Amino acid sequence: MFDIWNRRYTGSKYKLMPWIKQLIIEHCNERSTFFDVFGGTGVVTASLLDISKKIIINDFLFSNEIIYKAFFAQSVDNSDKLKNICSKLNSVDKATLSDNYVSINYGGKYFNYDDAKLIGYIREVIESEFLNGNISEQEYDILIASLIYSFDRCANTVGHYEAYIKRKDIMSTFRFELIRPIKTDTVIEIHREDANELAKRISADVAFIDPPYNSRQYSRFYHVLETITKWDKPVLKGVAMKPPEENMSDYCRSKAATVLKKLIDDLDVKYIVVTYNNTYDSKSSSSRNKISLEQIKAILDSKGHTQIFEKEYHRFNAGKTDVAEHKELLFITEVKNN
Ligand SMILES: C[S@@+](CC[C@H](N)C(=O)[O-])C[C@H]1O[C@@H](n2cnc3c(N)ncnc32)[C@H](O)[C@@H]1O
Repeated sequence: MFDIWNRRYTGSKYKLMPWIKQLIIEHCNERSTFFDVFGGTGVVTASLLDISKKIIINDFLFSNEIIYKAFFAQSVDNSDKLKNICSKLNSVDKATLSDNYVSINYGGKYFNYDDAKLIGYIREVIESEFLNGNISEQEYDILIASLIYSFDRCANTVGHYEAYIKRKDIMSTFRFELIRPIKTDTVIEIHREDANELAKRISADVAFIDPPYNSRQYSRFYHVLETITKWDKPVLKGVAMKPPEENMSDYCRSKAATVLKKLIDDLDVKYIVVTYNNTYDSKSSSSRNKISLEQIKAILDSKGHTQIFEKEYHRFNAGKTDVAEHKELLFITEVKNN
């Protein structure tokens, strides 16, 4: 069974959460409601459940939304019904399946060919079971999220879908496994919206802001997850088999600092927590930060008293330690009343 953090995702704060959570406990005196503005994997929300009464979580990707709905679905356990569906689907002889959208587009590229046939077959079965009224919406969400976690584990990539690894034989390692929903008394409100639009309507004690800081668009990095979630079967283009552009973030463009300022100005919260890391001097232009440290400081200082916390760690590259120091920063601003 998969837990919410069993996923490869650029910029996931899973490993940093013990440090971040401790700082939030120490420096945010009022924290019963949180707004996780750029939810990503959902691990930030999952880690804050025991210190909050309500969390509003948002991300503009369809795959992230369905993952939140699945993990935070309160009334469904992994019932025998879902376990039966799962074991039936695992016992299908994939070699005998006919071609489908997934095998035609991704077979021999992102997945082993027969695995791709099974992934496409499972996606189709989940859709028709839902349309025929045999599974509820929550069961549908859990099955789709389970499929995403299952195929992501065996994908022939370095962790995202900007490209697949060129090789002759991709091993068949796919197995359909269920996710383990999280039990909590905390109220979770889920949104799939542009962060800046949503921010105008939300009030909370603490806003947690973890935007993308470079030009790499999440909707392009995780396009296979988006396409399999939406299942509207668009024509895919290019070597990487990408769908038409959607959800392209202004945070990955040169206007990033302007949009962040607008977001922060619009927030109705008591504390603002912002993550930042110092990849600014990186040699690769796509990984260079779109917002400088000084810009973030100035934006936050205009809202109230800001403290900066620093965690140092070394990054590991291809087996050897990258000697350059890598710092993870956390800003906590106590918003002043106007
Ligand atoms: C650095 S990741 C967040 C990681 C998350 N904190 C975690 O630990 O998994 C940034 C997220 O912001 C989302 N995103 C980018 N621009 C957005 C926008 N304008 N509105 C909503 N979400 C956006 C991306 O889809 C991505 O999941």
